[in-house]
Amino acid sequence: MKNHKHHQETEAVHAGLNSEKKNGPVMPPIHQTSTFEAVDHEQQLRATHTDMFYTRYGNPTHTVVEAAIAELEGTESALIFASGMAAISSAILSLVSAGDHIVAQRDIYGGTTKFLTQWLPRFGIETTFVDATDYSQHEKAIRPNTKLLYLESPTNPTLRVIDLKKVAAIAQAHNLISMIDSTFATPVNQRPADYGIDLIMHSGTKYYAGHSDLICGIVAGQKSLLERLWETRTVTGPIMDPHAAWMLLRGIKTLAVRVQRQNENALHVAQFLSEHPNVKRVHYPFLQNHPQRALAMEQLRGGGGVLSFEINGTGKDACRVAEALRLFTLAPSLGGVESLVSIPVLTSHAMIPAEHRQKTGVTEQMIRLSVGIESTEDLIADLKQALEILKPAAAHVQVG
Ligand SMILES: Cc1ncc(COP(=O)(O)O)c(C=O)c1O
Repeated sequence: MKNHKHHQETEAVHAGLNSEKKNGPVMPPIHQTSTFEAVDHEQQLRATHTDMFYTRYGNPTHTVVEAAIAELEGTESALIFASGMAAISSAILSLVSAGDHIVAQRDIYGGTTKFLTQWLPRFGIETTFVDATDYSQHEKAIRPNTKLLYLESPTNPTLRVIDLKKVAAIAQAHNLISMIDSTFATPVNQRPADYGIDLIMHSGTKYYAGHSDLICGIVAGQKSLLERLWETRTVTGPIMDPHAAWMLLRGIKTLAVRVQRQNENALHVAQFLSEHPNVKRVHYPFLQNHPQRALAMEQLRGGGGVLSFEINGTGKDACRVAEALRLFTLAPSLGGVESLVSIPVLTSHAMIPAEHRQKTGVTEQMIRLSVGIESTEDLIADLKQALEILKPAAAHVQVG
């Protein structure tokens, strides 16, 4: 476990930047260049593995952002990619070969499920899916050719929480590389490296960037593993543009304060929804009756900004409620300063077969909210007016 010198809010503002006193710009410059001049051929050869050769290989702006991310995650190193899916697919492709096997939890991001089930089999790589919280299934699924244990926590959209210590121990016992999509948690709420997880991945598009204005991906972890990912990134090319990388750095400065506010707002919204007669079930890790609340309280510093709930009604009713919201914008994605609403079966889980979806508890009546940093009162008032379009129901609310 890494010793963090400063509090998260301070780290988010200062991470990656040189604290030496000098007469320089407060913000690092954007090295908006595709290539770098060499003084001679010998020096150019030496520069190949640095951030001053050609931007597909690296760029000083990327180096600053990557150092900031590594500091926040408590890892040796980090790499940034052109999207979350670029980060995830590059990480997996760097670590498996034809004939290898992956064990993955069933409820992961839909795009990753598609990559594992419809793309990797073309290259002779198979995946076995297991229930996220039944750890005996992980053990049973491991084969002699298994290389990776793939995780996501909290899960989308049902907000289940994975016991990271437990899964890291399983991976270590079987000599597997453990990798987690930590997009929903952010390093503000959870640092998987502290629990022994090898690779931490994010759709940086979400909380890290934080303003719904750029697409990016992140992988953090040990230097030796990231060197393999760097090779993949230079060969296949999913690098961020320097200007976008600089915008990511700007987003990181407010990551801690944004996420803390989103934690508070989402908890209030979840509490309001759990008492509403037209709501059947609310999924949020910090609610009193969440089945893994004890684990969530132990492992997470906050419940996060995303929650989902199921209404008393049909899938069409859920769409009507989502469309009746005024402050929650109807859009896929999450993690920005503004609140968003989506229907998982029509967005993040649309590409997943219905049978697979059912096993992960994703229903047609489910509405997912990404709670932003607006006033809680205004958000709750908006939800109240939208839920009024449904006929009152006397059903009992279940939380979990
Ligand atoms: C949990 C999670 N992981 C990965 C991704 C993919 O990220 P991107 O859209 O940046 O490629 C998403 C996108 O919604 C996501 O929600």
